[in-house]
Amino acid sequence: MDTGFDAGSDVLSRSGDPLAGTGFRMLADLVADGDVVVLSGAGLSTESGIPDYRGKTGRRRRAEPMTYQTFVGSAEARRRYWARSHLGWRHIDRTLPNAGHRAVAALQARGLVSGIITQNVDGLHQAAGARQVVELHGSLHRVRCLACGRRTPRHELDRRLRAANPDWRAPTDEVNPDGDAALTDEWIDSFRVVDCRSCGGVLKPDVVFFGENVPRPRVQRCYELTENAGTLLVLGSSLTVASGYRFVRRAAEHAIPVAIVNQGPTRGDAHALLTLDAPLGPALTALLAALDRSR
Ligand SMILES: NC(=O)c1ccc[n+]([C@@H]2O[C@H](COP(=O)([O-])OP(=O)(O)OC[C@H]3O[C@@H](n4cnc5c(N)ncnc54)[C@H](O)[C@@H]3O)[C@@H](O)[C@H]2O)c1
Ligand SMILES: [Zn+2]
Repeated sequence: MDTGFDAGSDVLSRSGDPLAGTGFRMLADLVADGDVVVLSGAGLSTESGIPDYRGKTGRRRRAEPMTYQTFVGSAEARRRYWARSHLGWRHIDRTLPNAGHRAVAALQARGLVSGIITQNVDGLHQAAGARQVVELHGSLHRVRCLACGRRTPRHELDRRLRAANPDWRAPTDEVNPDGDAALTDEWIDSFRVVDCRSCGGVLKPDVVFFGENVPRPRVQRCYELTENAGTLLVLGSSLTVASGYRFVRRAAEHAIPVAIVNQGPTRGDAHALLTLDAPLGPALTALLAALDRSR
């Protein structure tokens, strides 16, 4: 893996410490100009202990993610999902924001950030104090009824699932990015799923599954944020998923500078004015310190 920075061209030389080079100073200058729109991904939460999909901690190869069609089409698939998620969500729920999330919230509090779009479903931006976060792919902390549309807190469902499964104590040591845990069929078969309290409809986590579209108004809001940005700052996303990548393309089309801080290459690198290959906690903490020094 690349350890130096790569400024999207060969104008800038490589440096051993990505936080001491020209790329880092360019990043600090862009952010100091304000109107930064953050587009964050799973890489921002790995330092909190939530694995990403495609980075070093990625678990992509181990389990196929649930698709919308499978979830909606099969009661058995839903039982499997909820049983595994009953364990996995508790792990996500205990997770704390890290220095990267805190730095983003601090940049927003300083008035430098005009929008935060996250592909993450873990709620850690908000837990760190960020406001008006657009959760592109929804949140694991909410549940939605597919029949009546009512949204309820996941904590409430957790209480109901515990009550419906008093003696269910399945062991697991592996948790997937989406709050899914590995479980044997035996444990899954004995799990009891509950339905919507208002209408008896099917409950689904309020996240966008593979095979499902992000609601149009939400996408539109992200395009607007992007088009009005001074800089689009990508944090911890491989941009493999088209859902996030489209905003990088839109920024590039509008000649809005794109800066990417990510360990490893991303699909958006060709559109970026600068890319910085560095761990996000230290990088964003250093960025905040550099900005505070120059104020
Ligand atoms: N925390 C979460 O909510 C979570 C976790 C995993 C996946 N997801 C979902 O899965 C999809 C994954 O796409 P994605 O692009 O967000 O993630 P991804 O896994 O495709 O890419 C993450 C990138 O971050 C880099 N990275 C990991 N740790 C880093 C660190 N500490 N500092 C800097 N870079 C780091 C990795 O090398 C990788 O390139 C998204 O749609 C998202 O909704 C969410
Ligand atoms: Zn309902």
